[in-house]
Amino acid sequence: MLTHTITANPTYEFAADVRAGLTKLGQKELPSKYLYDEIGSALFEVISFLPQYGLTRADERLLRRHAHEIVERLATPVAVAELGSGSGKKTRWILEGLCRRQRTSYYPIEISPSALAMCERELSDIESISILGFEREYLDGLLEVAAQRHSGEHLLVLFLGSTIGNFDRPAGVKFLAEVRHILQPGDSLLLGTDLEKSNAQLIDAYDDELGVTAAFNLNLLARINRDLDADFDLRQFEHMARINHQDRSVEMHLRSRCRQTVNIPASELLVEFLEGETIWTESSHKYSRQEVHEMASRAGFCCEAQWIDQQWSFAENLLIAY
Ligand code: AVJ
Repeated sequence: MLTHTITANPTYEFAADVRAGLTKLGQKELPSKYLYDEIGSALFEVISFLPQYGLTRADERLLRRHAHEIVERLATPVAVAELGSGSGKKTRWILEGLCRRQRTSYYPIEISPSALAMCERELSDIESISILGFEREYLDGLLEVAAQRHSGEHLLVLFLGSTIGNFDRPAGVKFLAEVRHILQPGDSLLLGTDLEKSNAQLIDAYDDELGVTAAFNLNLLARINRDLDADFDLRQFEHMARINHQDRSVEMHLRSRCRQTVNIPASELLVEFLEGETIWTESSHKYSRQEVHEMASRAGFCCEAQWIDQQWSFAENLLIAY
């Protein structure tokens, strides 16, 4: 159980992305990946315990219950790369299953250094594992992992927790195709997808009564204050979750309670908000089982198997590159 990390520190990219998103004509927006700094990652952990937000627990249950079957279907020897490892908790079952069969290299790829550190701590006790973490964007990290692959070794890519839902549908397929491009025939992708559910269930999950999701969302403004020296008054913004029926997604926004101007020095930006104007911070798309098959085949994969949770409509999909 070796653990190492390769790091990067792109604050200027954050400043540039904030500038681009808040100067957009029409709907202002901020990329959802920036929700996950140290505080944001900790708040998301709390969200995953909320009774109304069953997604993460469903993902964990499926991986725990079916790890054996999943591992049995893989061609070996196989190395594991994970896109967005989070805390690493739910990855344990797959890794333990594999480590019983072979020494296993595990490459978590994660832009949040605190999540990466947590994941390395969480999993380093597994016997016969070696962990090499990449503090990178998903595709950059995956390219580096693929470059390290030994001849005859397959890759299993984990993309869990329905993170794919943060892409709009065309971008989701494009992303899967980009992953496929880095892989070789016979490699696999284990993809977690949240399935469609009622509007009431979605609003409860994304606008919980404790206000944890509100804090998670507002932390993005607090992060801009911390990292980019900005002066957002968090009390003058409120969390909002709404259903986008056309896109079959839930959107999170931050809504300005009044007309106001915010200064973001590191982005060389003064930005004005009207009363009621929103910043769109995240979309979480929901899928049908059949749709996952279609997305997979459009991206160069075959959906070999699906496991569905009975308590919270969520699917674990095993895609094989052809
Ligand atoms: C981690 C992207 C799957 O979309 O449900 C939770 C993030 N946002 N509550 C999701 C999230 C608000 C989550 N993902």
